Order: sequence, then structure tokens, then C-alpha cells
Amino acid sequence: MKIMEIEGNHELSGTIRISGAKNATVALIPAAILTDDTATICNIPEITDTDALCDILKYLKVKVNRASESIIIDPKFMENAEITEDFSKKLRASYYFMGALLGKYKKCVMYFPGGCSIGARPIDLHLKGFEALGAKIKVEKNKYTVEADELKGANIYLDIASVGATINIMLAAVKAKGKTIIDNAAKEPEIVNVATFLNNMGAKIVGAGTSTIKIEGVEHLNKCFHEVIPDRIEAGTYIIIGALCGKNFKVDNMIPEHIDSLLSKLEEMGVNLEIGSDYVTIKEPTSNLKATNIKTAVYPGFPTDLQQPFTILLTQANGKSKINETIWENRFMHVPYLNNLGSDIVVKNQTATIIGPTDLKGTMVTATDLRAGAALVTAGLKAQGKTTITNVEHILRGYEQIIEKLTSVGAKITLKEI
Ligand code: UD1
Repeated sequence: MKIMEIEGNHELSGTIRISGAKNATVALIPAAILTDDTATICNIPEITDTDALCDILKYLKVKVNRASESIIIDPKFMENAEITEDFSKKLRASYYFMGALLGKYKKCVMYFPGGCSIGARPIDLHLKGFEALGAKIKVEKNKYTVEADELKGANIYLDIASVGATINIMLAAVKAKGKTIIDNAAKEPEIVNVATFLNNMGAKIVGAGTSTIKIEGVEHLNKCFHEVIPDRIEAGTYIIIGALCGKNFKVDNMIPEHIDSLLSKLEEMGVNLEIGSDYVTIKEPTSNLKATNIKTAVYPGFPTDLQQPFTILLTQANGKSKINETIWENRFMHVPYLNNLGSDIVVKNQTATIIGPTDLKGTMVTATDLRAGAALVTAGLKAQGKTTITNVEHILRGYEQIIEKLTSVGAKITLKEI
């Protein structure tokens, strides 16, 4: 088991460079099998979710050549085998193989995906989309067989603007006959990144980034070269850490517009930000943080994935703040641990009420999921004394070189195998 130990309450200064976006990468890797040639993707983050997807590619006999931050994927000799339950459960994004294999071979057999336990996480909208394109779905316990004689473009309305369903339907539809229209599509930047990748291969997708995406099916997808966008959630996490502990603290190689909702909230709270074209700098620690309320929402609303780290900032603000979580049913699992560290937070009906400011004091805590883990790292950096975090495998799934990056700006943080 791996643990993290943090000696908190040190001022952090210097530059943190943001890696490629996890949530784009985990869709781009399965999407790459749609090419009839090879796909080269650069700015791939070295996180365990990337490793897990590459293992699935190799299992499907896809040639994978990884060097530093780039990857060459060659599916010319791949085989469409059943993806085992172990592989399917390794991560949430294994479900992108459903859309990609269906698009390429008109058949996919795999199991219900894994991922963080932050709510029910059904995949009904993905399956409804596949069915609309002509697929038949057979479910035996956890095993899904999705198969079609022919995929035909269709008009699909998503009841919820789901990121996963939007991308998965795009993957299945790029080679379908005729035109597909996805209405009430999700608008996240990662969706635009995946659509750009597919268009680079020769797909005909317009409207990604709006709520209506139109896809004209093509027969072949070609060789392409693509770059992953910077990770807006990683950037947001480090900006929050900077707002708590930073002096001349720069978060570089990012796209500030992708986290406008966070930056506006920080400014409202009194954090002094310098926002450049591809960086955000926190010059001074903020002495008098104002309390505020946030409500998570689909993009461009406040991202649910930043809600957990943002809670720590609210524990340091003056007065009563509220967080209303609208996307996931179970995303306050970090709260009992924060209260063990000294915060005053009550959760009721999907809303956390935070009274601040409170002093945080290090203790032993557990990362229950990826962003809860990021929240505990954030809290540990602010707390007096030593914080020990267990279950850090969750954190390593999504934050590239987190120990090295934080150490480089002066944090006292170590990763230990026990
Ligand atoms: C993605 C992100 C995750 C982020 C989430 C919301 C990845 C790998 N993960 O997850 O980090 O927290 O977007 O921004 O990109 N839903 C259904 N039926 C479905 C699909 C979704 O009811 O078939 C519901 C979910 O339960 C949830 C909401 O829709 O309440 C949003 O989920 P969705 O956008 O699909 O999240 P993911 O793609 O799983």
C-alpha cells in the first residue's frame, strides 16, 4: 500500500507546469483504434489510468509505442476480443472501448466499468445512443454485448448532458452510415479535444463544444497527429493550493478560460490572481478570504471535480459558505476527514455548509476517491504538522508526478510504500 506524508504549513513558490488532460486522454486512447493507419498523440500524462488503457490496447493486440509524453497507436493487427472484467473494472473510461469497438467492428463485449465510487454512475444514456444507431444490447450480469448489423446515423437527445455518453456516441457514430445529431450534448473542452482528434483522422464532426453535435459518417479514418489539451482540473487544483499557501506561485501551460468559473469565484473571495494567456499566478497569500457559495454544474458551470479541493479554501474563509453538489450523489466523502483535521463542515441534502476560518491540524486520513484525495493533499499542505494519507492509488490515477511537482515549489511531501 502506498501512503503520502505531508508536513504542512510551508509557503510554496515557483512554477508548476500542467500536464495533458486526464479526461481527454482516457477517451483519445480508445478513440485511436478507429484509425485504419496509426495515431500519434502527444502530451499524454503519465498516470495510472493511461497505463490501464494501454494494457487494454495491448490485450487487443494493438501496437503501442510510448516514449516520454507521446504515444503511437497502431491498430492494424488488432483483434476484437472480449474485454475481461478485470480490465473493464480498472477504470471508468474503459467504457470508451464500447463506442470505439462498436464504431470499428460493430461489436463490443465488455463488463460494467470501474472508477471512483462517487454515485450510481449508470451508463443507460450511452446504451440508448448505441441502440438509436442500430445496435442490440445484451446484458448478462455485468457483461455487455453491444452489436449491430449496420450502424445508421440517428437523432439522439441526451436526457442529461453526460460527458461520457456524448463522447461514446461520437465514437460509435463517426463511421455510421449517414448523419447523427446529438442534442443536449455535453460541452466540456475534453469533448472538443476528442472531436478535433477524430476530425484530424478524417471524421466529419461539427458543433463539438455546443449542445448540438452533428456527425456525418465516413468509411475510413486515417493517420493523424494530435496533442492533448492541458488538464483544467489539475490546473484548478494547483491554483487552489496556490491561493492557500502560495507566494509568487505560477501555474503554467494551462488554458485559463477552461476554468473561468473557478477563477471568478477566487476573485470574488478576494484572491489576487494574475491571469495570463496560458498561466495564472498568485503573488501573495490572501489574508481575508470572503465566504462564498458554489453550485456544481455541467461545463461551463463550476466543475464537480474541483468542488472537493475548493472546500479547503472555504474552511479558511470568513463566515458561512455552501457547496451544492448537483452532478454526483456521493461526493462529500472527504468531509469527515476534513473535520478530523479541524474543519467545521455539515453535509445535508447534497449541500455542505462550511463555517470558517478554522485551523487545520495534521492527522491520518484516507483518500476515498481521486478528487477527495486531491482535497486531502490540499488540506495537508495547509495544516499544521503531519498529515498521512492512505489509499493514495486514487490520487496517482489522475495527477501526474504530484509529489515531484509539489516538492519543486517547496512542499514537504513524500510517497511511501508500506
Ligand atoms: C466525466 C468525468 C468526471 C466528471 C464528470 C462530470 C471522465 C473520465 N470523467 O465523468 O471526472 O466528474 O464527467 O463532469 O471524463 N448519467 C446517467 N446516465 C448515463 C451517464 C451519466 O444518468 O448514461 C449521469 C451520471 O450519473 C451523473 C451525470 O449524468 O449524475 C453526469 O455524468 P457524466 O457527465 O456522464 O460523467 P462521466 O462521463 O462518467
